[in-house]
Amino acid sequence: MIVPGYRDQPAEPWDPSSPVDPGEAEDFLRRCYTENPRLGPVEPRLAIVRAQIAATGSYVHTTDELAHGAKMAWRNASRCIGRLYWRSLLVLDRRRARTADEIYSLLVQHLQAAGSGQIRPVISVFAPAQPGQQHARIWNEQLIRYAGYRTEAGGTVGDPRMIEFTEAVRGYGWQGKDEAFDVLPLVIETPGDGVRLYELPERAIREVPLSHPDHPWFAELGLRWHAVPAISNMRLTVGGVHYPLAPFNGWYMGSEIGARNLADADRYNLLPVVAARMGLDTSRESTLWRDRALVELNRAVLHSFERAGVKISDHHTESQRFITHLRNEEKAGRRVPADWSWIVPPISGGITPVFHRYYDEFDERPAFYLDDEAADLARHGSRCPYRG
Ligand code: ARG
Repeated sequence: MIVPGYRDQPAEPWDPSSPVDPGEAEDFLRRCYTENPRLGPVEPRLAIVRAQIAATGSYVHTTDELAHGAKMAWRNASRCIGRLYWRSLLVLDRRRARTADEIYSLLVQHLQAAGSGQIRPVISVFAPAQPGQQHARIWNEQLIRYAGYRTEAGGTVGDPRMIEFTEAVRGYGWQGKDEAFDVLPLVIETPGDGVRLYELPERAIREVPLSHPDHPWFAELGLRWHAVPAISNMRLTVGGVHYPLAPFNGWYMGSEIGARNLADADRYNLLPVVAARMGLDTSRESTLWRDRALVELNRAVLHSFERAGVKISDHHTESQRFITHLRNEEKAGRRVPADWSWIVPPISGGITPVFHRYYDEFDERPAFYLDDEAADLARHGSRCPYRG
């Protein structure tokens, strides 16, 4: 059965008013201390945590627990092909930040820590949700995304995925330039400050103009993409504690841009444009004009990032690395949850090794979840009142 959107539901909806589950806390702490012998024995720590939960309904992670928990959540992200380097995640402990201004400046620091050339995986972990209390959040699905606009002629400019969100931020007073690659403002909502909009400074936004190694006309298309994919609306859950604001980034795999963002019919829809410039016969599907345009678009993305000195990887390399990751994890005695439909690259799937096997899908924590409310805010820029 195909249920649209089903795959975006968390395995277990989160009840923000319920106290921390002591069993989940204990399970996490035992694993965390087993995987990190330098942290010492877990028993004394468990006694403290049990008492904290009994007294307050929650407990406070040490910096080491938080750092390892975030890495475990990445390791458990069943849709991520890039997990080989999970140990290298830089975890920025931002739990003390409260105001929208503080959060904003730490998000700018996050993007700067991620870098603009040799991109490194970073997560910023802000304050956990306290049972029954309001918490800070970002509405944006990624720290950097391009606006989308409907034109009077009935077409679109920019990223169609972001049209409703763009209309919503315009309602809050943001002025878009009506261009194809306008970086959206951050929408930060805190209990103290309400909803506030912030424009990212240029120094936080590295972008790569796209050109093609063989086709000089490609640069005339005026395409570009941002260097850092930073998911900002997923909830990190570690040992029963929920961190609703915990943006994280990796580096791009070229096909995310070349075979999805720029190619999907409901995104930038550029295959017909590229095919026309290439002079391909688009009168019949069997000329495979879409496939030929798709390959050249992906070559342009990889070529441009490489030329600009911005870290990116191709889907063959990233598939190999994932196979290595599977092998490593097996050696460590751990099962790897993986979602075939996300792991297999959106181009040339069958010529990558990740295609030719099945994976186990199961909910393993620590984990990242996308909550319905967060998904609605990122798509519509409002809480959708119609959901059941
Ligand atoms: N596919 C998303 C995008 O194109 C980014 C998802 C995360 N990707 C990553 N390489 N860490 O913007």
